[in-house]
Amino acid sequence: MLKIIQMTVNGQPVELAVDDREALLDTLRDRLGLTSVKRGCEVGECGACTVLIDGKAIDSCLYLTMWAQGRSILTVEGLRRNDGTLDPVQQAFIDECAVQCGFCTPGLILTALSLVMSGKAYTRDELKTKISGHLCRCTGYENILNAVEHALKVHS
Ligand code: FES
Ligand code: FES
Repeated sequence: MLKIIQMTVNGQPVELAVDDREALLDTLRDRLGLTSVKRGCEVGECGACTVLIDGKAIDSCLYLTMWAQGRSILTVEGLRRNDGTLDPVQQAFIDECAVQCGFCTPGLILTALSLVMSGKAYTRDELKTKISGHLCRCTGYENILNAVEHALKVHS
């Protein structure tokens, strides 16, 4: 059944008719063209489809678009700045050489951003747990952890 929903995506109001079985991953990638949101396992195991929903990192493959009514969605496209500079979290991933093929990177950047936005301090072991929902098939986990730590330091 189709339902009209209104949400905010990367700061812009969006109104769409969505099937009540439609996953947010499909809406963002296939209908809104936000291809930073990666289609990986589609069963909540890899974290590649992570977006921020009202500031919380969520697997968009497991989240129905109709649940996003009235909510604010952020994808990596929403970090784009008018002056062309990168968000400090993106810059931290570059500075720490934490990007290989890049497939896992958008989701990890958004999870890292959610940690920065929490305003809390985390030990390295806690950060390991926090990013454990993300699989990197290139297995560069040490550099990814360095990047998340770096991002948190920049904001502290
Ligand atoms: S595609 Fe959503 S968790 Fe893997
Ligand atoms: S950089 Fe290739 S999957 Fe993580």
